[in-house]
Amino acid sequence: MKTYSIALIPGDGIGKDVTEAAWQVLQAAAKRSGLGLEGTRFPWSCAYYRETGAMMPPDGVETLRKFDAIYLGAVGWPAEVPDSVSLHGLLLPIRKAFAQYADIRPHRLLPGVQGPLRSEGFDILCIRENTEGEYSGAGGRIHSGTANEVAVETAIFTRAGVERIIRFGFEQARARRKKLASVTKSNAQKYSMVFWDEVTREVAREYPDVEVSHYHIDAMAARMVMAPESLDVIVASNLFGDILTDLGAAVQGGLGFAPSANINPDRSAPSMFEPVHGSAPDIAHLGIANPIAAIWSGAMMFEHLGEAQAARDVMRAIEATTARGIGTIAGKDKTETITRAVLAALN
Ligand SMILES: NC(=O)c1ccc[n+]([C@@H]2O[C@H](COP(=O)([O-])OP(=O)(O)OC[C@H]3O[C@@H](n4cnc5c(N)ncnc54)[C@H](O)[C@@H]3O)[C@@H](O)[C@H]2O)c1
Repeated sequence: MKTYSIALIPGDGIGKDVTEAAWQVLQAAAKRSGLGLEGTRFPWSCAYYRETGAMMPPDGVETLRKFDAIYLGAVGWPAEVPDSVSLHGLLLPIRKAFAQYADIRPHRLLPGVQGPLRSEGFDILCIRENTEGEYSGAGGRIHSGTANEVAVETAIFTRAGVERIIRFGFEQARARRKKLASVTKSNAQKYSMVFWDEVTREVAREYPDVEVSHYHIDAMAARMVMAPESLDVIVASNLFGDILTDLGAAVQGGLGFAPSANINPDRSAPSMFEPVHGSAPDIAHLGIANPIAAIWSGAMMFEHLGEAQAARDVMRAIEATTARGIGTIAGKDKTETITRAVLAALN
């Protein structure tokens, strides 16, 4: 039996609930396909930080390297650990160290889910650059706490980094409806974003079959609301992609429906799968977190591992569940009820 070893990082808040929910479904789907899934749990989180002073051990990244994939719930507990510490102490180092440079986030309405704007008709794939740009972590502060205090944060765009994400976007567009929208703010940011536009035009020559459009981030935000059906693949920098995909999540009915995959396309290191949402401290411990985004992220993991049948089975089970109106209204169904319904649909 083919067995995959998966590193599980449930994290904080609802991250723990949705990971357990998704893991049950993924185990069941693996079994149906005659696969083994071996999960190793890591307690790395804000609770771990409070105990040890770090979000993960110094060799945490190396520990993860031997796994076939990483599955993460969500990290963050802002009441006790600043978000900048939790993010820079766990998620960002993993994405960077494993060159998970393509963050793939699909936005479409599941059957039975009513978006705030419309009930059907769009299917967007957002590709977010995931290792550099505005989240490079380059900068510093001087004269802290004085009237002369200065804070500098530099966005870093490398030719290699921009080229590879644009090319990845074109490849995705080629496999879909052959439309790529590149998002920048090159009217105001005249170095990095003009550079991004130039690289996009260069790479576009290799893909004459793909129609390319260029949008400024503000115009794209409006378009995603007003005409989401006009969009196919969107490619954007780390910050812009981060924001646009929360907008995408809203348009698809809420954060409980938005999955994501942090992909290392070269497969030189494991990729990481997680819902777009965070640890939702406002609803943690209530047992009402929607596990669908997390389960869908698991389907993306199967897809990446080359297990298309298991991925399809999970998606069919999710869609059968939402089509019955289960998990479609925020707070109505318990995490456990939704998970049981997905498991029943799977079997
Ligand atoms: N990838 C990650 O681990 C990740 C991503 C985003 C935020 N965070 C962290 O999570 C913490 C909370 O952040 P936030 O409040 O800005 O964003 P959030 O995504 O946790 O929550 C935003 C809102 O959406 C709701 N929500 C989110 N997921 C839901 C689900 N599955 N079902 C039902 N409702 C859901 C929440 O209740 C909340 O009202 C912070 O510490 C933040 O840094 C982590």
